[in-house]
Amino acid sequence: TDALKIGIAGLGTVGAALFGAITTRHNLLTDICGREIRIIAVSARDRSRDRGINLDGIAWFDDPVTMARDADIDVYVELIGGDGDPAHAAVATALERGRHVVTANKALLAKHGVALAGLAEDNGVLLNFEAAVAGGIPVIKAMRESLTGNSIQRIYGILNGTCNYILTRMQRDNMGFAECLAEAQRLGYAEADPAFDIEGNDTAHKLAILTSLAFGTQIAGDEVYIEGITNISIDDIHAADELGYRIKLLGVALRTATGIEQRVHPTMVPKGSMIAQVEGVTNAVTIEADILGELMLSGPGAGGDATASAVLGDIADIAKSRPGHQHAPALGRPVAKLEPYQRAQ
Ligand code: NDP
Ligand code: HSE
Repeated sequence: TDALKIGIAGLGTVGAALFGAITTRHNLLTDICGREIRIIAVSARDRSRDRGINLDGIAWFDDPVTMARDADIDVYVELIGGDGDPAHAAVATALERGRHVVTANKALLAKHGVALAGLAEDNGVLLNFEAAVAGGIPVIKAMRESLTGNSIQRIYGILNGTCNYILTRMQRDNMGFAECLAEAQRLGYAEADPAFDIEGNDTAHKLAILTSLAFGTQIAGDEVYIEGITNISIDDIHAADELGYRIKLLGVALRTATGIEQRVHPTMVPKGSMIAQVEGVTNAVTIEADILGELMLSGPGAGGDATASAVLGDIADIAKSRPGHQHAPALGRPVAKLEPYQRAQ
């Protein structure tokens, strides 16, 4: 069988970890997928940067959109970030050119996810984005495959590893906010602009994607009430502790009689609750589903390796797929069947 040819755009924290995972597990992946997964092209800004990976024999593109257009690849892996160009143009071009796309870019999907899912459908290719929500936790697969047919009442959780890491270290180690954030950045958890993490936008992007999958609606990233953690002090955390609570940044989406409510804000949760035990970079998502009941998934929510694991799973799914084989649509149901988003009154 032919190799599955991969192009990776973005060789930062996640891209470099993915490159390492694919190259070091090459034979194992071939056995599992029944065909070789071969990286043939990459794109990043700085060609001279030492990334700890061997790029010999791999085509280099300075421009990720050119790679989407010209490289002879089967799968375009977008690990650049941001909701504008070049990430948007690159993903759209790859889909239009009939290439499968795997992305970890929640900002892009929160803004353009429906249009991109439509492009994937029109061109008969897959758009996989497991890593875009809650890092290594397989929540997208759970939502769009395992929970098929369930009606979901509410979905909520800790969706940002950076914020949970900061709140945990402030509480446990009495560290200041700025020091905790710097540590989260050093560990590769934070966004290129960490304001997206601490101001709550990143949680909102992920929540908007989950909301669409949970309720079968258009993605409505602009319809999220957002309050981040920038105003949380060590005193707040200690005061909550004395009252028997932990402070967590939660994303919550629920269906009400009048529509859907989406919100992101710091929340006091009882110390004895399951969600209070979710510490550090760990994320957790709770889904209330009518056939299954309540499901809670937790695991590594950020970081190069954990995120690369989810991206690799998405690539392997494509490698194992065969032409004509039916796949779950990107947003759980065909784009034409998504309901309009209606905000709760
Ligand atoms: P980094 O900032 O570490 O890496 C971004 C990469 O994209 C770099 O290699 C950079 O090139 C390249 N890049 C940036 N702008 C351009 C451009 N204009 N043209 C070409 N290449 C460009 O980000 P991460 O690896 O942390 O994140 C990548 C994506 O994954 C983002 O969408 C992020 O939100 C998402 N994500 C990240 C997680 C994490 O834990 N880090 C977890 C889940 C999702 P160069 O190296 O030359 O500067
Ligand atoms: N910056 C994000 C976080 C990366 O801290 O959760 C994972 O999406």
